[in-house]
Amino acid sequence: MALLEIEVLGAKVLRERAAPVEAVTEETRRLIDDMFDTMYDAEGIGLAAPQVGVSERVMVVDVPDEDGKHRVHALVNPVVVESGTETDKATEGCLSIPGLEEEVTRPVRVVVEGLSPSAEPVRIEAEGLLARALQHEIDHLDGILFIDRLSPLKRGILMRKWRKRKKGRAAR
Ligand code: NI
Repeated sequence: MALLEIEVLGAKVLRERAAPVEAVTEETRRLIDDMFDTMYDAEGIGLAAPQVGVSERVMVVDVPDEDGKHRVHALVNPVVVESGTETDKATEGCLSIPGLEEEVTRPVRVVVEGLSPSAEPVRIEAEGLLARALQHEIDHLDGILFIDRLSPLKRGILMRKWRKRKKGRAAR
């Protein structure tokens, strides 16, 4: 088990477009294992490689569905290939912006394709929380954070909170 350091808002890697993985190797699988460990340790439901300082298109999610069953996915080079027209709003947070959350509007249903850790093609038809988590993590691979999906007004309020918290941490 290896815990990786989680990059927080302000880190350049969070704003870069991550590179496609050319070949899924042992190294990729080790990264995925470490990302799961890091995500569970931080009590998150999703994590993207840029959040642990690796600018590659890799992400993991572990999302409970309505029956309490867990939908666990590790995806390499994931792409949203279809988005439904229906949207909804739900509260999101991000391990890279600890302490802040806000309602984000996203499509309710998406179809995501990518590769599994064993380099098999995967197609996931997702809705609800799983669809939301997949979209949030795939956004990370394009350098997009959930705060970018808010109105300028709401983003401004969050950013003021963030700066205050940062000052609080620095003073401690
Ligand atoms: Ni996030």
